[in-house]
Amino acid sequence: MKDFAVADMSKAASGSQKIDWAWQYMPVLSSLEDRFMEKQPFKGIKLAACLHLEAKTACLLRTFSRLGAEVYAAGSNPLSTQDDICAALVDEGVHVYSHRGMSSDEYFSYIRNVLDSRPDVIVDDGADLVATLLEERPELIENVRGGSEETTSGVKRLKAMERQGILPFPMISVNDADSKYLFDNRYGTGQSVWDGVMRTTNSLIAGKVVVVAGYGWCGRGVAMRGKALGARVIVTEIDPHRAFEALMDGHEVMTMEDAAPLGDIFLTLTGNVDVISSSHMLKMKDGVIMGNAGHFDVEISKADLKSISTEVFEVRPNVTCYRTESGNRLYLLGEGRLVNLAAGDGHPIEIMDLSFALQLMSALHVIEHHSEMESRLYPVPQDIDKLVVSTKLSSLGVSLDRLTPSQEEYMEGWKE
Ligand code: ADE
Repeated sequence: MKDFAVADMSKAASGSQKIDWAWQYMPVLSSLEDRFMEKQPFKGIKLAACLHLEAKTACLLRTFSRLGAEVYAAGSNPLSTQDDICAALVDEGVHVYSHRGMSSDEYFSYIRNVLDSRPDVIVDDGADLVATLLEERPELIENVRGGSEETTSGVKRLKAMERQGILPFPMISVNDADSKYLFDNRYGTGQSVWDGVMRTTNSLIAGKVVVVAGYGWCGRGVAMRGKALGARVIVTEIDPHRAFEALMDGHEVMTMEDAAPLGDIFLTLTGNVDVISSSHMLKMKDGVIMGNAGHFDVEISKADLKSISTEVFEVRPNVTCYRTESGNRLYLLGEGRLVNLAAGDGHPIEIMDLSFALQLMSALHVIEHHSEMESRLYPVPQDIDKLVVSTKLSSLGVSLDRLTPSQEEYMEGWKE
């Protein structure tokens, strides 16, 4: 088995610098690393990860490695892998299989490389590791104690496996922890998507009409930050409560069909397919910008974009122009892949500190408790969720009030 497969080991020094930069702003993860260093809880454990290979992820993988694990990592999106980070991780002793711009075949062959390690624990982002293991390597299932999943789209797939009774081992849904979705999905996506859009286009956001498809936690964050930048935000939704919430938050709500001719910037965050298709694209103005922040590149139909275009060409890094028959130019960012990672560095460091502390503690939970767990999807245990956010607050010097005994008693009772 190959030890690693990365693009260019000469980039390791640049990767290390980025990792060091991130690490200083990750007090939760680093305090957990200190806490478990002596105990080495992952000693003897082979840990397989499929994650976005950027600096914060490197901090997590390095922590697993420092705490004793033998770590095997593949990138969870062809455009989110940063080659210098991969090289630096190899220097840290992590078996990395990825390079930026990998083809779909290469993407899955790297996942297979990681599975060849015969892992004990899985850390997934998007559920491709679990899905590939299930479909192609069922003989490995008995070895896996369990794992954890980072993102909404991955959890959706694991829930489908659970419904069909084929989820192969216990998986913890990190995505659904309060310390995750309230911050990572909302404030993380809210900032990093705009970071990706602005870095890539150099466009002014103020005064623009921004169409946000999907008002889940990620959509809420992107709409909120878009509004704060001076955009007028239109939300498209299929769920009546979310649609009403968007209205109450001060956004307009309408169908994509109606929003298509109005928008200057379109951002998809639904987790579903063909949210923007040819009927919408044909109504759009010249020069519109489209980006996706859902896990898979299926929300803006690239097949439709191609089919209505007479010309397709790169205009700047990470920006593809589709010129339609009418002469309109429709711009797609980062090939319709997660714009915050394909065209940026992903979520802010301080946010990933929380999410990755949850990943670390969830993996530890699986190691310690797998024998009592069934092959189903578990929430992050409450004590872990509380520990992570409390550690964050302490690192910021924030103190909380405590209930007095009489307040506790009052809250337990019903008599006034
Ligand atoms: N960085 C690493 N993983 C990430 C994720 N799932 N979303 C955004 N930024 C990330």
